Amino acid sequence: MNLSDNFSALEASTVGANHSAPHKADPHWMDAFWMPSTGNRNFKSHPRMMVSAAGCFYTTDDGRQIYDGLSGLWCAGLGHSRREINEAVARQITKLDFSPTFQFGHPLAFELANKLVELTPKGLDRVFFTGSGSEATDTALKMARAYWRLKGKASKTRFIGREKGYHGVNFGGISVGGIPANKKMFGQSIEADHLSHTLIPGNEFSRGMPEHGAELADELLKLIALHDASNIAAVIIEPFSGSAGVIIPPVGYLNRIRDICTANDILLIFDEVISGFGRSGAYTGAAAFGVSPDMMNVAKQITNGAQPMGAVLVGNDFYNTFMDNAGPEYMLELAHGYTYSAHPVACAAGIAALDLLVKDDMISRVNELAPHFERSVHSLKGARHITDIRNFGLAAGLTLQPFGMEPAKRPFQVAMRMFEKGFYVRYGADTIQLAPPFITTQGHIDSLINALGETINEID
Ligand SMILES: Cc1ncc(COP(=O)(O)O)c(C=O)c1O
Repeated sequence: MNLSDNFSALEASTVGANHSAPHKADPHWMDAFWMPSTGNRNFKSHPRMMVSAAGCFYTTDDGRQIYDGLSGLWCAGLGHSRREINEAVARQITKLDFSPTFQFGHPLAFELANKLVELTPKGLDRVFFTGSGSEATDTALKMARAYWRLKGKASKTRFIGREKGYHGVNFGGISVGGIPANKKMFGQSIEADHLSHTLIPGNEFSRGMPEHGAELADELLKLIALHDASNIAAVIIEPFSGSAGVIIPPVGYLNRIRDICTANDILLIFDEVISGFGRSGAYTGAAAFGVSPDMMNVAKQITNGAQPMGAVLVGNDFYNTFMDNAGPEYMLELAHGYTYSAHPVACAAGIAALDLLVKDDMISRVNELAPHFERSVHSLKGARHITDIRNFGLAAGLTLQPFGMEPAKRPFQVAMRMFEKGFYVRYGADTIQLAPPFITTQGHIDSLINALGETINEID
């Protein structure tokens, strides 16, 4: 056998046409897709397959209607399959399916950037597009370091996040995030320290913002004393932590963090990937809590989840620091960007989704529904296994007493049984998370909470 015979044999066996794809009826049909953030073994033995969605409901492959109790993954507040968004996507993909935004542009990117500036607090004037929330985190962290270099303060490289903080799955995000499992699985990354989370005894079953805990912000002073502000680039926090189970900031906490950052020349980044664009009963968490950051990350609800997209917003001074220090005009001011930054189809979806959000006055709708949602979810206080309930806007988290040494077991069981009953809710660590679509009704909320109470009561 010569070399070319060897190659032909290899080609035929590994990359050639002999490799036929399994049919749907084949038991190995699901093997190829390594599912993200999923118990693959569990899913593949008990598939939960969605085939279509409209409004507040999914339809499964066996024809069942499933109420979407998490707006997809916190991203589809306007409900699924909105005609205006679908049409915008269809129009755009036939007109300009892709266009580079490196050195060239397309009008929708500029139009969407203007809309984002309009809907976010004053002082956030410039928009850098990414393809996801995780990319927005890493973009914001890189920008913050680069900003300080350009300001002649190159030692400001360290970041401060929070325990239980979630900022996506890229290396920057898991470094500033406070999820121990990420540190255990993926090891060391960029320099980051962490403030405590604000889930403290005495605040259980708070409705909206808890009363106690603003003083936890002073931990930032301790970290500044430890590392020195000359080494700290930015503090990054979610206005309310979503993925950790909806942890609402205590009254005065975010203001205090803001003041300490300002006094110490440290940038404050709000990761509004979940709190952004309606969920908090305002366009942003910053507006809902009355505290403005220096940088803001958004994603998910920009396009109502119909297309992947994220963005980082910064102020004019921040932007101009890059413009003023880049040398000749043909030079890049920031050597950073993604192939899919401001993808034209995602921009079309974003413009249509944000227009709908404003036109249908979804902020008022969230504020109308929020008191009913709050009463309803807190009616579960006293039910078996529930040790805490938290809520803000149209987001809520419930903590369940761990089953022995397995904190994630009960939430998993609850979510699976809820799916059997026709409800999709998210489970994470020892929590169940709820984020109904903004277009939901009081009746839907009642059914969701009744089913949840009944289900929690059923499990051991
Ligand atoms: C606050 C926050 N930041 C970042 C991310 C990561 O976003 P993505 O999954 O789009 O990368 C998430 C995702 O849930 C998030 O909640």
